[in-house]
This record gives sequence, structure tokens and C-alpha cells, in this order.
Amino acid sequence: MKRDLLTILDLDKAEILNLLRRALELKEGHRQGHNHMPLLGKTLAMIFDKPSTRTRVSFEAGMAQLGGSTIYLSRTDTQLSRQEPIADTARVLSRYVDGVVIRTYEQQMVEEMSRHSSIPVINGLTDTHHPCQVLSDLLTIQERFGRVTDLKVAWLGDGNNMANSWITAALRLDFALYLACPRGYEPDAALLAQAHGRGRAVYLSDDPDRAVQDAEVINTDVWASMGQESEAQERRQQFARFQVNAERLQQAKPEAIVLHCLPAHRGEEITDAVLDGPQSAAWDQAENRLHLQKALLEWLMG
Ligand code: CP
Ligand code: NVA
Repeated sequence: MKRDLLTILDLDKAEILNLLRRALELKEGHRQGHNHMPLLGKTLAMIFDKPSTRTRVSFEAGMAQLGGSTIYLSRTDTQLSRQEPIADTARVLSRYVDGVVIRTYEQQMVEEMSRHSSIPVINGLTDTHHPCQVLSDLLTIQERFGRVTDLKVAWLGDGNNMANSWITAALRLDFALYLACPRGYEPDAALLAQAHGRGRAVYLSDDPDRAVQDAEVINTDVWASMGQESEAQERRQQFARFQVNAERLQQAKPEAIVLHCLPAHRGEEITDAVLDGPQSAAWDQAENRLHLQKALLEWLMG
């Protein structure tokens, strides 16, 4: 049976840990220049409704390294732009290619694609989830700390797709997640309720200092996500208190790392000094998109 990655909840704990382990093996193999082409002759279609640097390039490079190929489809270049239903697009793509990545607005669209596809569907970001990113972030944490459990992870800023994905990760793994979001910008209420209902260590407040206190991982993201550009001015005011800066970083554990999925708005959610500083893991984190997604593609399409 085909498997999808629409949210991290599509994976169980063992599958997540396996992906991290395999990604580290692939990363090491890549460093040593090994050729590993389990996807020779396979094709990945990539439908993008929103811009991308990391997701697009890491999937394209990853497929090439695994011996496969990709077809990049911006929505405007497909019949989706002329109202061909997503279900029909899914049925047709399933006859041509071996997997599909979608980046779009509504989570419902990736679910619809999954329902009507006989091939694996991977969520490359929606308004509510970004599972490939958080798996890559977990890989970065595993590399730096040798574990993804027994850690305090802080999230500062918007209760967006990344914050939601962190909650889903906390539903599967044993780390403590402290979210600090301005009132009115909280993450998905149903996901929070699920985490609380299952007794997970997920805490939400509007107090960024409490969130970062003694944390091992400090995480942030843009204050206005793709599609929210018109709110950027208002959000800059609401979020000013939630900036990740050098002073705040001092409240965390001395060995703390800072994560940012990028692109960053330097001087807003994070300062230059922190993003470019010794505790920033953002560049390894970006690199890890490649290795994590190769492990994912190998598993789903191999
Ligand atoms: N982090 C991330 O998904 O980056 P892109 O928008 O560049 O793909
Ligand atoms: N929250 C951001 C993440 C970008 C990778 C956005 O959706 O624009």
C-alpha cells in the first residue's frame, strides 16, 4: 500500500527515528562520494502554488542523487489554473510518475490529492503543516545532541504551519515543547487539544522568556507567512516582543542551538548576530532538508 506524508502524524515514532537514522547514513555516504541510485527510472512531480528555494532545490537535487528525475509544475502552467479538479490531476499524474510533492495553501488540497492518487503524496508546505521541514529540524537536533528526546524545545512567534508541525512532532516524540505566541496568533486549537488530551509536554503562553528559559533548542520563523503579506505591518507590531536576539539567547542553556527554517526576515523575528552567530544551526538545518528528503524518497518510492 502506498504511504503519504501529509503531516507528521502519518508517521509513528519508529518510522520517524528510522528516517533520521537513514538520513544520517545517506549524509555520510554523500560526503564520501558514494553512488546510491535506488530510484533510477523513477520520476517525482512537484506542484508548487507558492515560491520556494530550499524545498524545490533539495527535492530536485535529492532525486537526481538517487538516480531519479523531477518535473516542476507551477500551478499556473498546469490545467489546475483552468479549474481541472485536483482529483483528476491526481488520477492522471498517478499514471505517469512515481510520487508527487505539493506546496499549496489549504491542507485539504493535499488530502484530496492523496485520496485520488495511487502514488505517494508528500506535503511540501501548506498553510497548516510543513512536515519535511520539521523532520529535517529533528535531524539537525539529533546530529547536535545525539537524541531527539529529553530536550526543551522553544517556539517563539507565529502559531503557523511550522508551529503546528512542531506540535505533531511532540505528539510522536518525547521532548517538551514550549510555544510562545502573541494572543490571537496561536497554533491550531485541535492539535493543541490533542497534545493536552494525550498528556504531552506541550505548553502555550505569550511569554517568550518563559519559553526560552533553559531550552536546548530555540526555534522561530517569519511573522508573516506566504499568503499573509498584507498583514506584515500589523504583525511586526504584534510580534516585536518575540524576537530571538542575543539577550534572549542567554536565558537558554549554554549549549542551546537556534533553528530557523528560512527564509529569515533579519532584524524582525531574528537578529543578524544570532542567525550568523555560533549557536545558529540554520545552515546545517537547511542542508539537512536534502538528506532527510532523500531518506523519505527512498522509503516512499524505492
Ligand atoms: N524552509 C523552506 O521550506 O524554504 P523554501 O520556502 O525556500 O522552500
Ligand atoms: N511559515 C513560513 C515557512 C516558510 C518555509 C511560510 O509558510 O511562509
